[in-house]
Amino acid sequence: MQNIQSYITEHKERFLNEIIELLKIPSISADSAYKNDVLKTANVVKTSLEKAGCDTVEICETDGFPIIYGEKTIDPNLPTVLVYGHYDVQPPDPINLWDSPPFEPVIKKTELHPEGAIFARGACDDKGQMYMHVKALEFMTVNNELPCNVKFMIEGEEEVGSANLATFVKNNQEKLKNDVILISDTGMIANDVPSITTGLRGLSYVEVEVTGPNRDLHSGLYGGAVANPINILTKMIASLHDENNHITIPGFYDKVENLSDAERAEMAKAPFSLENYKKALNIEAVYGETGYSTNERNSIRPTLDVNGIWGGYTGEGAKTVIASKAYAKISMRLVPNQNWEEITELFQKHFESIAPNAVKVKVTPHHGGQGYVTPINSIGYQAASKAYQQTFGKIPIPQRSGGSIPIVSLFEQELKSKTILMGFGLDSDAIHSPNEHFGVWNYLKGIETIPYFYKYFTALNK
Ligand code: BES
Ligand code: MN
Ligand code: MN
Repeated sequence: MQNIQSYITEHKERFLNEIIELLKIPSISADSAYKNDVLKTANVVKTSLEKAGCDTVEICETDGFPIIYGEKTIDPNLPTVLVYGHYDVQPPDPINLWDSPPFEPVIKKTELHPEGAIFARGACDDKGQMYMHVKALEFMTVNNELPCNVKFMIEGEEEVGSANLATFVKNNQEKLKNDVILISDTGMIANDVPSITTGLRGLSYVEVEVTGPNRDLHSGLYGGAVANPINILTKMIASLHDENNHITIPGFYDKVENLSDAERAEMAKAPFSLENYKKALNIEAVYGETGYSTNERNSIRPTLDVNGIWGGYTGEGAKTVIASKAYAKISMRLVPNQNWEEITELFQKHFESIAPNAVKVKVTPHHGGQGYVTPINSIGYQAASKAYQQTFGKIPIPQRSGGSIPIVSLFEQELKSKTILMGFGLDSDAIHSPNEHFGVWNYLKGIETIPYFYKYFTALNK
């Protein structure tokens, strides 16, 4: 593939302009006010796949946002790569913390991205990374370099739990049949330290509601004599971790996969600077479960975190009140072998059991999914590894990530194929945060690396 680099150089401006146009549409799946924008984005993705060379592209309607499905068949006897990505994005809030508007993309240089980075919601998660695959397909089509069959499945509900995609996958096993699933929706260690994601954590997401008295009360007249739901809720939440930051829910760790000392030693070889980590976050110290390193805490160990908590008076000034209700949203990141539905039940039972009878509690499960680990001896992994060696000049390091893409374990269950996670983002790209960005270098490097994956995957399958 002599000409991939020159093709990228020649079309770089257009590649950037196209992703910038896609990023201008606020495809926020969580907020119904943006419904039309999400649908518009689906259409743009469809057109881009047609232009890039798919034989057919369909908009598959679901009970929620549509799934874009496209395919290009070279020869039914050749292997098939199924590319998955998502065109929806997280809400941009808090909007006042953005240096430039989230849906008006700009390219700015940063310390880690000296060649510039595209700042916009979805730049890295996942529009920018998904679009690398569209441009890689364009290159392979134009230059007759597509060595096998390809299917694209791009959804618009990843950020809200992929419920309709799960149904689509279960109902379309034949259509989606493939030899490997390829996803760019994760990150790598650094631009000069390429890595391939070999694990994702599972997730259980719940909302809790604590109710005390039937109405808000004067905190002087009633204070001290009735349960304050906010006091109680925070006390209950605090009790979910012990002094070693172990989670106290009975049975929570029962199925947690314990890594051998050898595996942990292997993990510890990945380059990591605690000093830089703390500096980047402006923190004096890290914090977490006793007995585990930072990289272990955020990948191979399960967690429980409050994502939001509210109740009572939060407006300007002071109001003396005991609220009737208090709420929190809680996520648990899970590791292999923990079953998310079982964990949700354990949480619910435990949370109800620790509530004093002066309050009522209600636990509402949101969504969840299983964790995932992919072996490094598969043809898919080997092909990815060779592709990175080709374009980065280094052997990529296998690394488990702390994030979740719950649908990946369902892919394996329903489609019986392994997923390869070729992510080109950096942890510092601020996904889900204000000022999300994606390096121009990373975007182009992704486009350059992907065609080699196809090449080696097809060759290794012979
Ligand atoms: N792309 C992310 C997941 C991710 C990012 C994994 C970086 C590994 C490294 C995905 O869009 C995401 O945000 N997933 C959610 C879960 C989902 C059910 C909302 C997450 O991890 O919080
Ligand atoms: Mn994503
Ligand atoms: Mn995301």
